[in-house]
This record gives sequence, structure tokens and C-alpha cells, in this order.
Amino acid sequence: MSDSIKYLMDETHIPKHWYNLVADLPSPPPPVLHPGTLKPVGPGDLAPLFPMSLIMQEVSTEREIEIPGPVRDVYRQWRPTPLYRARRLEQALQTPARIYYKYEGVSPAGSHKPNTAVAQTFYNKEAGVRKITTETGAGQWGSSLAFAGALFGIDVQVFMVRVSYNQKPYRRVFMETFGARCIPSPSMETNYGRTVLARTPDSPGSLGMAISEAVEVAATHEDTNYALGSVLNHVLLHQTVIGLEALAQMEMANDYPDIVVGCTGGGSNFSGIAFPFIGRQLRGGPAVKVIAVEPAACPSLTRGHYAYDFGDTGRMTPLAKMHTLGSGFVPPGFHAGGLRYHGMAPLVSHVKQLGIIEARAPKQIPCFDAGVLFARAEGILPAPEANHAVKGAIDEAIRCKADGVSKAILFNLCGHGHFDMQAYQDYIAGKLVDQDYDESELAMALAGLPTVPDQA
Ligand SMILES: Cc1ncc(COP(=O)(O)O)c(C=O)c1O
Repeated sequence: MSDSIKYLMDETHIPKHWYNLVADLPSPPPPVLHPGTLKPVGPGDLAPLFPMSLIMQEVSTEREIEIPGPVRDVYRQWRPTPLYRARRLEQALQTPARIYYKYEGVSPAGSHKPNTAVAQTFYNKEAGVRKITTETGAGQWGSSLAFAGALFGIDVQVFMVRVSYNQKPYRRVFMETFGARCIPSPSMETNYGRTVLARTPDSPGSLGMAISEAVEVAATHEDTNYALGSVLNHVLLHQTVIGLEALAQMEMANDYPDIVVGCTGGGSNFSGIAFPFIGRQLRGGPAVKVIAVEPAACPSLTRGHYAYDFGDTGRMTPLAKMHTLGSGFVPPGFHAGGLRYHGMAPLVSHVKQLGIIEARAPKQIPCFDAGVLFARAEGILPAPEANHAVKGAIDEAIRCKADGVSKAILFNLCGHGHFDMQAYQDYIAGKLVDQDYDESELAMALAGLPTVPDQA
């Protein structure tokens, strides 16, 4: 084993293919249903929103899907991303565990999100689309799409969840610098936004609401498509560059993870780091314990129902079987805005249901405690979302110490927190509160789950 801190690869080692976990699963995920007919959707049903190339990736069962040359070319701006051995964190924890993290914060937007923003924008450009609408929570996804839109010459309109818009004004400026428009959601720009505001004028917004607004604009304009920053199979697929690179870098370190950890909002960065390792295990390779870490205040994987539900609050999207808190659930306005989603990627939900992964749901303050401990040891200030993965990894390292075993723990440090200073300021001032979800609101949202005929 080497004593390196960083495992770096040159541009020639950017993967040539994305990895599709569906090819290796013991059973396929349940079909996505049309909201009107409740029958499985066909490619044509999705065509008003997405280019056909992405729709075909959404339903693909091929193990490998080639990364187009122009997308790899843009990836060269920041990929391969570094893999670090967290030696100073190990020291601080006095743990025998070997902790590794893949750092996606070196991308132009500061997180993993450009991995799919660039790919989605490329395919839309190829299909002749003029404008893309989207939602954003943390602002990382909107920033990524704004960057990709500037590269490929596509207009970008971003509905940013209002509470995050207020917490992070500089994210809006970032998007505008790249030529995008950023609107706080719910807004007066759409029928759906106006309906919400009439009912709840001070609504903090949610990812589910912002998705409804963006979908409405795309569905009602011929030249406009919609892009989603997480949840869908093709988004998870694009993120597998993270885990594919990590596989090669763990080999450089002459090590292999016993445990893989990622935070989960919609499930894309978690899938990105974990799916290539899960796939190797399913093909007879080494076993890995895979842990998804979500916020206690929005606990879809640990407290939600595994049921068919809408991807948005306005009930415009197809129905997917997933772990959900109900599409009407509005999470409290905690600082990890990217994790405030009522549902979970159907593919992540499916592997959870198959018992291939575990999930945890720590509270906000212990996650910030972990993030600050990490920052003081390693010198990188994580995004509040990423703090959940840091917390998951630290907990495992402490367990190793208690058990006197040395395990290799790999986690995805999916983004930096340089736009999240309000969150850290509140933490330092002791103003952060550990919000729980509202039990009665959750019960109401779950009671509103759509009734769907058995798909077996
Ligand atoms: C830094 C960061 N991490 C995680 C997430 C959650 O998304 P996902 O679960 O799709 O990775 C977001 C979403 O905005 C984010 O910005």
C-alpha cells in the first residue's frame, strides 16, 4: 500500500463509457407509468420533455453506454477528479480505518452536477433544442446547467427553490454570469406557481414544486425541453464516471473499499460513486457495504413508503415506484437544499428494496459537526449535502476503532460549500436547529399517494 495523499490520473483515463447498473441487477426496476392511463410510458410519451437519445438511455439495459467525444472533451476541463486518502482525518479520529474520498468539488460549478449537465445539454443541442428549463435546490444543479448551456449555446431557465434562493444569493449571480435566468420558486411565471402562491404566499418552495414549474414551461413551449438534475436513470448513468474513476484510483492505492458511502437527495451522486462497485459485486467481485445517507428532516429512504408516486408536487410527471414521503410533502427549510426532495431515484429505491444497500438519516447539526471536523483535518469545506456523506464515513471509521478493525471506507465528497457560508455562519453562531419533519404533514402527504393497479 502506498503512502500517497492524492491519487491522480491524466485526461486519457477519463472513462470512455458510462456504466448501467440495470444490466447486472437480478430483477429490473418496475416500469414508469403514464399519469393518465397508468400504463407503462413509451418513448413517445416523454418526447415533449427530453431528446430521444436520453429517452433511450433511460430505458437501456446495455451494460456500457459510450460517452460522446464532445462530452469527454468538456469533462477534460476537470476530470478525472482526485481521489484522496484522508490521512489527517484518520489521525484526528485515531481510527485504524483507511478513509478515501473522491472529490467532485473541483468541477466548474463545485459539485458532481456538471457530469450530467454537460451530457444532457449536448444531447439537447444535437436534437436542435433552443432552450432548457430546470429546477435547482442547492443551486449546484442550476449552476451546472447554466455552465453547460453557455458551452453549447442553449438558453437556460432555472426555477430555484425559494428558501435556497434566499440563503444563497450568489448562486443566482453565478447562473446569470453564464447567461441563465434564475427565478425563485414558487413563482408567478407559471399556472402551477400562481396556484401555490395563492394558497401559501410565503411558501418556502420545494424541489417538487420547482420541477412542476419547469416541466410546465417545457411542456407548453415547442422549442423548449426540460432537464432534471437527479432521480432519472440517465442522470444516474452519467454520474457513474465518478465510481468508474474511483475503481481505477483504488487500484492505484492498491486497496479496495469495504464500505462505500454517499449522500442522497434524488440519488445521483450516491449512484455515481456506488453503482460501479455494486455492479462488480453482482458480477462476482468483492462484497461492499453500501450506505446512503439522507437528512432526518427529509427521510425518503428510511421513513418513506415504497410506492408509485409523482416526481413533482403539481402531479404533472409520470409515476415512478420509489421511496417517497408523498409528492405533497414540503420539507422544512434546512440548509442541505439539494436533499429536500420528497422521493428517491427509482433505481436507488429498487436496490434498497433488494437489500443491496443500507440507508441512514442523521440530523443536521451532527452532519455539520462532521463537516467541520473534516474541514479542519483535510482543508476542504464540504457542501452541507456532502456533510451527510462525511458523517456516514466518520461513523463507520469510529465503529472500526471500537471494533479494532481496519476497513477501507470510500465516500463521495460531492461538492464544496463555498456558496454555503450562511449555513456555516448559522452553525458557528449556534443558530442551527435540528428540524424534524412534521409528522402530521407527512401523514397527509402519504395519504395522498396515487392508487395504482398492481404491476406484477
Ligand atoms: C452538492 C450536492 N450534493 C448532493 C445533492 C443531492 O443530489 P443527488 O442526490 O442527486 O446527488 C445536491 C443537489 O443539489 C448537491 O448540490
